[in-house]
Parts: sequence; C-alpha cells; structure tokens
Amino acid sequence: MIDSMGTLRRTHHNNELSLAQVGETVTLMGWVLRRRDHGGVIFIDLRDRQGLTQVVFNPEVNPEVHAKAHRLRSEWVIAVQGKVEPRPDDMANLKLATGEIEVLVDTLKILNTSETPPFPLDEEAEVSDNLRLQYRYLDLRKPEMGANLMIRHQAVQIIRHYLNAQGFIDIETPMLTKSTPEGARDYLVPSRVNAGRFFALPQSPQLFKQLLMIAGMDRYYQIVKCFRDEDLRADRQPEFTQIDMEMSFVDEEQIIEVVEGMITELFNQTLAVDTQPPFTRITYDQAMARFGTDRPDTRFGLELVDLTAIAAECGFKVFRSAADSGGTVRAINAKGCGSFTRKELDDLTEFAIQFGAKGLAWVKIKEDGSWQSPIAKFFSAEEQEKIDESLGAEPGDVLFFGADKNSVVFQVLGELRNELGRRLDLLDKDRFDFVWVTDFPLVEYDDKEKRYQALHHPFTAPRDEDIEKLAEDPGKVYSRAYDLVLNGNEIGGGSIRIHDAQVQMQVLKALSIGKEEAEEKFGFLLKSLHYGAPPHGGIAFGLDRLLMLITGSDSIRNVIAFPKTQKATCPLTDAPSPVARIQLTELHIRPDWKE
Ligand code: AMO
Ligand code: AMP
Repeated sequence: MIDSMGTLRRTHHNNELSLAQVGETVTLMGWVLRRRDHGGVIFIDLRDRQGLTQVVFNPEVNPEVHAKAHRLRSEWVIAVQGKVEPRPDDMANLKLATGEIEVLVDTLKILNTSETPPFPLDEEAEVSDNLRLQYRYLDLRKPEMGANLMIRHQAVQIIRHYLNAQGFIDIETPMLTKSTPEGARDYLVPSRVNAGRFFALPQSPQLFKQLLMIAGMDRYYQIVKCFRDEDLRADRQPEFTQIDMEMSFVDEEQIIEVVEGMITELFNQTLAVDTQPPFTRITYDQAMARFGTDRPDTRFGLELVDLTAIAAECGFKVFRSAADSGGTVRAINAKGCGSFTRKELDDLTEFAIQFGAKGLAWVKIKEDGSWQSPIAKFFSAEEQEKIDESLGAEPGDVLFFGADKNSVVFQVLGELRNELGRRLDLLDKDRFDFVWVTDFPLVEYDDKEKRYQALHHPFTAPRDEDIEKLAEDPGKVYSRAYDLVLNGNEIGGGSIRIHDAQVQMQVLKALSIGKEEAEEKFGFLLKSLHYGAPPHGGIAFGLDRLLMLITGSDSIRNVIAFPKTQKATCPLTDAPSPVARIQLTELHIRPDWKE
C-alpha cells in the first residue's frame, strides 16, 4: 500500500535547509538514497534534483513513524514532515550544503516503492553504458548527471540571452527536408504520399539559414537538432544539437567578434573562469605544420619540426624516399622522456601504426649527447647534429620521427603528440585554450573518388584573390572559413558564404558537380542567389561538445538526456526497431531482409 500526499505540500528542496531554519517545521519530498540504522535510530539521506538532506526517525519522537521507516528501501519515494535540528558538532558534514542540520521526522508518507535498482546510485560503480542507457531515468538521478542537465539548461539561457540582445532572431527550419551538404550520410524518411520519394533529416540548417539571409532576416539563430549517419565517437552522436547562426552584411571579423562575446559569456558564467577575447588565431597551414592537425590542443608544446630538407640528403632509405617522393619527414622532441622503456616505445609504435604509420623511428639522446637508436647507424655525426639542433635535443630527450605522405605524417604525429600530452600529464583541466583556425584550403583532393571535395561545404566563399585559380588549380585556393577549437576539440565552424551566383557555379565546377547534379541537389539555393542575395556568413557550434568541455565529461553522452550508443541504438526504447509489414507497404518499401 502506498500513501497519498494528502494535504502535505513541499516547503523546501533538499539543498535548502541550514542552521537558519532550526526549530521550523518543514516538509521535504524525494527519494531514499541511503538508509542507516544506528541502534534504533534510522537515518535516511533524502535526495531530490537539488541535493541531499539527512532525515531522522527516532522511536522516542514517534514510535509508529519509526516502525514504518523500517520498511524504506533505496529509491522509495517519500514525503516527510518534521523539525529542523542542528546536528551534534562532531556529526556535521561541511561538504554538504545541508550538512549542519537534520530533520527529525514525525510524519512519513510512502508515496511509492521501488524495485532494487539495477545499479547503485550512490557510488562510483563500474556500470556498463548499455545498462545506464537502458535505465536512463535512474542514471539521471545521480547528482552529477542531474547537474549536467541543469548546466545545459543554464548554458542555453545564457546563449539565448546574449544572441537576443545582439539582434538575432530565433527561426525554426524544417526537419523533413532535402539532403544538406555537410558530407555525412543522411537519415532518410520515406514519403507515404509520394511513392519512391524520401525526405532527409537535416545534417545542419545550412541552406535554410542562407535562404533566411536572402529573405532579409539579417541575423538568425537556432538551437537545433542535426542528424548525421556517421561513425560515432566520444564526441559524436547521430543526433546532436547545434547553436546555429547566420548574419548579413558582415565579414569574418564581425562574426568572430560576436561569437567571442557569446563564448566568453558562456564560459565565464557557467564556470566562473576569466576568459577574455580576442582569442588566439592560427592559419590552417600553421596549425598543420606545428601540431599536425587543424584542431590543435595548444595547452602544451611538443610541436612538430620539419626535417624534410635534411632527410633528402641522408642515408636512411625510409626518410630519403619519403622526401624524394614529395612526402615529408617530421619529428617531435618528447622532452625528458629518455626514461621511456622499450615496451613504452613499442606501444607508441603500435599507436602510430594504428593511425597509418609504417613505423615510428625514435632516438634517445644519451647523457653524452650521442644517439641511442635503431636508426643511428644511417646518420653521419654531422646529420645527427643537424637534427639535434633543429629539435633542440638535449640529453634525456626522445625524438620521434614520421616519414611518409604529408597527410599520413600529420595524422600520425598529431595523434602521437596528443598521446604524449596525455601520458606526460600535460592536459591542464583548468585551462581553456581557445584558438581560431583560419585560412582553410577551399578543397581537398579525394584519392578514392579522384576529385576535389569541399573542406567545409560547397557554399563557403573562396578568398577574393584566389577566385581566378579556381579553374586551373583549385588545390591552391584558400577559403573564408574558420573553426573555433578548444583544448583540441572542434567546437564550432563556419564561413563567409558565396552570394554571387557566378562564383558559386565556378566552385561547383571545381568540385566536379555538374549543372544537372547541382540543379537536382540544391537548385533552389542557386536560384535564390539570383534574387538579391546579400553578403552573409555564419557559424555553428556543437552545443553538446561545449557542454562536455564545460562539465569536464569524457563523452558528449553525459550531457545529453537520452543519447544513443556507439551503434546508434537506444537501449531505453529499443529504437531502431522493426515495423509492421503493412507500414512498409504503405511507404512503398519492399523489404529484402529476413525477419
Ligand atoms: P560543422 O559540420 O562543422 O558545420 O558542424 C558544426 C559543429 O557541430 C558539431 N558537430 C557534432 N557534434 C556532435 N556530434 C556530431 N556528429 C557532430 N557533427 C558536428 C561540432 C562542429 O564544429 N553548417 C555548418 C556550419 C556553418 O558553416 O555555419 C556545419 O554544420 O562541434
Ligand atoms: P626498418 O629499417 O624498416 O626496420 O625501420 C627502422 C626504424 O624506422 C624502425 O624503428 C621503424 O619503426 C622506423 N620506421 C619505418 N618506417 C617508418 C616511417 N615511414 N616513418 C617513421 N619511422 C619509420
């Protein structure tokens, strides 16, 4: 039997009572986190979204209520009424907001019982992600998870408040739409009333926000779900949320200024850190050369050094042939890592191979400055000296080398650098290093498809001075795109868009997108450019990633109420799930899978 609340009304949340309320009669409601029986007196830690309060059942105060409290178990839902008392001095818990008081209960209502939860909610237990997601409503009762959702709420309020004040208006765009060009696979929705036709869920509102600028809306934003069917990682979900924005009559500088204001407000208010614009800027080429990646973690050094010129002259075949065939040889000086064991060096080699390396040459600098290395014999004393000098090598250092095509060396050494940062404990959790990466190449060559692909999307403007290179040498064209990176995470990306129909056609041509294909895929946007499109540009931030970094979580799943697994499934609802044959027939789909 469970009780009704009757006339009881909650007077406080479980984080609110302190010595100031001693003597008052209060009513609290919530869940039983822990029950302790101390020689006849029962203590309950009562939990709600806001916090914990210790409530006490003493047989001398009310024997009936005390007897009833014996039944209470974890996660039962109760209402209690009683008097606030100070805890005895030696029992105070100053870590808890309510740790100096307790509530002596004389009315107890059991509002609901609970089965034993499949995992404990009051301790750091190893629980599989699948089980956590299956019982997400229990997982979210954990204080740290509830706190994440509350910070998310706060973050959204801060962002809206800021953008509203800057003259942005919030406009919704369709979810049932046409494929958008962010480069991932689409989630498709079949149309019942149009046999053989499909909607795509938006990978971003990119084309609609451009249309809104053409419609004269001037400044748009939306906190919006986007859908991408891609391989999932800790910082990627199939549906995720963007803070999406677009502005008319602006250049890069104005967009960057508005955005730096927003991000500063967000971090300073949620974390009480003191972030100040302007943020550091680095070009794409510099980022690649120094860090091997376009999303550099700039909290630590260990930068890449280019040794291609030296390698071109050396006797080590692996290095020389990389240099001779248009590739590169680069290295990192892992300062003071001379104590790395053979096993650690082998592990790092394995790590490099995972990212496409053919090997990972290393050199330990001995006490006397000489080389200890499997490749020492291939280098003259003079060459060794030149390499040492380039890398600032000193006794006790380890040098790691990558020799291959540029893309492989950047990827491998970029990842190795981050791994060394982790191993050497260089990732300061209290530091927030924002860096703008600018001047991206407009396109990159896709070896598999044998054609150029847009690095951002096909509507990104080329730099004015590069437009004439579009036809002859698209690989040399730089774009007006920018990404904001925080501690090695890409938190946002955007660009100035093409608003000149002529230039748009030239870019599509460089991407080998023919007239017909362009017409079919985004003819509506191309047409709109002929009706007075203003200069415009924008950016989108990954809200989930921002929150992951703000809350110090290791996955965006911890800041999303109901996320999906690595395999894009939902263990809670069991989606995606089979549907009745009749539904498929109505959708004009004839399945070829076995049930
Ligand atoms: P982009 O594709 O760079 O740009 O996306 C913008 C930001 O969204 C976040 N993000 C993701 N977060 C979680 N899971 C994912 N699968 C995922 N994919 C992207 C990242 C990223 O920086 N329309 C353009 C923006 C523009 O040009 O204005 C766009 O979508 O933090
Ligand atoms: P090998 O002569 O192939 O036995 O390689 C000698 C050393 O160079 C080993 O430590 C390999 O791990 C390393 N190595 C081989 N190929 C490469 C490469 N492409 N880049 C960097 N190091 C390499």
